[in-house]
Amino acid sequence: MVFPQNINKGKFIVIEGIDGSGLSTQTAILKERLTSEGIKTYQTKEPTDGPVGGVLRLALTKRISITPETFALLFAADRMDHLTKEIVPKLEEGIAVICDRYYFSNFAYQGIDLDMDWLIKLNCKALLPDATIFLDVDPLECEKRRESRMRVEHFEEMEKLSKIREKYLEVLKQLGDETKAKIEIVNANNSIEQVADDILSAIRPIIK
Ligand code: TYD
Repeated sequence: MVFPQNINKGKFIVIEGIDGSGLSTQTAILKERLTSEGIKTYQTKEPTDGPVGGVLRLALTKRISITPETFALLFAADRMDHLTKEIVPKLEEGIAVICDRYYFSNFAYQGIDLDMDWLIKLNCKALLPDATIFLDVDPLECEKRRESRMRVEHFEEMEKLSKIREKYLEVLKQLGDETKAKIEIVNANNSIEQVADDILSAIRPIIK
């Protein structure tokens, strides 16, 4: 796995996890905490609100139908657009970028149906994050959190979330071993405050 290194002054931080793991809450808290320390921070997410992200949202909400392969290609294309238009320019300005989901989502979600080597190749021009935090939560707990917001097919979802979590752990380990990337697994079954503290401690070595 060879991904380009971030040589800019700004640090690139990615937060990952299965649906319901608290990604948007924790990304927002981290931005708030770093900002309060006087660190210039930019918060962003994938899929983006850009042109490719728009097509992805149509597919995610089942208003259009696309194959798993097309999903994978669009997520990777959305990421390149995101890097070029938002992430890299901010890093160049010396601003820390916190990104809610990145290529590990591609590897874990699309990786349950598709060939991992192909998915990695699709993303080979995407910058390696300086730190990746995986919010590890019991799929049963995610399911409970999500059920309080909407009804889901319980067993089907649970089984899928468990598979995605396994893929995440597999690919994070592989990428951690093969690159110099900093990868931290945070126990996200804990309280919001505790998880936020753990994330901050995990990224402290790269943020001064
Ligand atoms: P999500 O973070 O839930 O977006 P929103 O909060 O706007 O609904 O992301 C949408 C879904 O897209 C989520 O289930 C994970 C999935 N996804 C992939 O399958 N592959 C990817 O590469 C990315 C970035 C997301």
